[in-house]
Amino acid sequence: MSIRKVVAQAPGRVNLIGEHIDYSDGFVLPFAIANVTTATITEREDSIITVASVQRKSLSYKTALEKLAPLTGEDWARYPLGVVWAMKDLGITRGMDILIDGKVPLGAGLSSSAALECSIATGLNALFNLGRTKEDLARLTQRAENLYVGVPCGIMDQSVSLMAHEGSALLLDCRDLSTRNIPFDIAPHGLELLIIDTQAHHALVDGGYAERRASCEKAVAELGITSLRDISVADYEQAGKSLDATIYIRGLHAVTEMKRVLDTVAALEAADFTRVGQLLNESHRSLRDDYTVSCPELNLAVDAALSTGALGARMVGGGFGGSAIALARVEDIEMMKSAISQAFAAKSYRAPRFFTSLPSEGAHVVSQM
Ligand code: GLA
Repeated sequence: MSIRKVVAQAPGRVNLIGEHIDYSDGFVLPFAIANVTTATITEREDSIITVASVQRKSLSYKTALEKLAPLTGEDWARYPLGVVWAMKDLGITRGMDILIDGKVPLGAGLSSSAALECSIATGLNALFNLGRTKEDLARLTQRAENLYVGVPCGIMDQSVSLMAHEGSALLLDCRDLSTRNIPFDIAPHGLELLIIDTQAHHALVDGGYAERRASCEKAVAELGITSLRDISVADYEQAGKSLDATIYIRGLHAVTEMKRVLDTVAALEAADFTRVGQLLNESHRSLRDDYTVSCPELNLAVDAALSTGALGARMVGGGFGGSAIALARVEDIEMMKSAISQAFAAKSYRAPRFFTSLPSEGAHVVSQM
């Protein structure tokens, strides 16, 4: 037998708007960043699977195809192995050596885990000729993360890592995974999207996420609707009066955020960046005060960005740490970064890191032999 090999890449993401609504069938508007994870997968003649990382050489992991079982194995290796497990019955017949080169910043809320999962899924799909669509791969990688890794995430991060296109944000309908590319070319308008990694990670991350998700499910059940997608803000405000106060306010975030996503698309199409900025601010307020998934570091980053001229700013991702984004004029960016750094230093917070990225291409096969 000739040994086959594939190299596949998948990017991390930032979410422009549409936070904590992917698991409520909402619309979201993320884009892929330029930082990618590269997976090199070499087929073996036996059923052994090895996983190694360019960044953490000491952490290689060895198992076998028939031994894969949810919630087993070391934490970091669960991500690639979970994807092999989720795709195993589709036609993976042999073991493999997996080498991961991860260039998406870890722990920054930029979806390094989705990038890892999607690089593996894209590679396996090509290596074993599985013929799966990007929508299939999104559902399979989400399944891997939910069941094998044990994280109850939605489907946004995997979808955008797989389906994004250069130059555009991806309007994703999380109900049926249909998409529309929304051009996001802000440089000609003198603007830039600053990504601020607060370097904060609060312990609430896991439990807090699951609890918010459960609240939305409870609101749906008690209102007797199919999902928070299927109720207008006005109807929710009316019907929601019967709900417990906490459940009501969580659901209110979801229904208002869904509207903000569609309003942002309209504002982008009209090149009305002042309005885009307002919508980012409203999203942050809702996440901070209603959904309560922000944290002091994220709020400080947002406030410091706004006080140095940002058109809008908000936390992104699951919350309780990670990154914020600020839509800003290019000439304000350096001053904004130093104001944010100084504000963090004054509170003795860890120094923030700054990134910027143009909307980049989704997952693809780099080479195959
Ligand atoms: C995390 C999850 C996503 C999504 C966001 C919040 O990134 O992985 O599915 O729920 O949080 O929008």
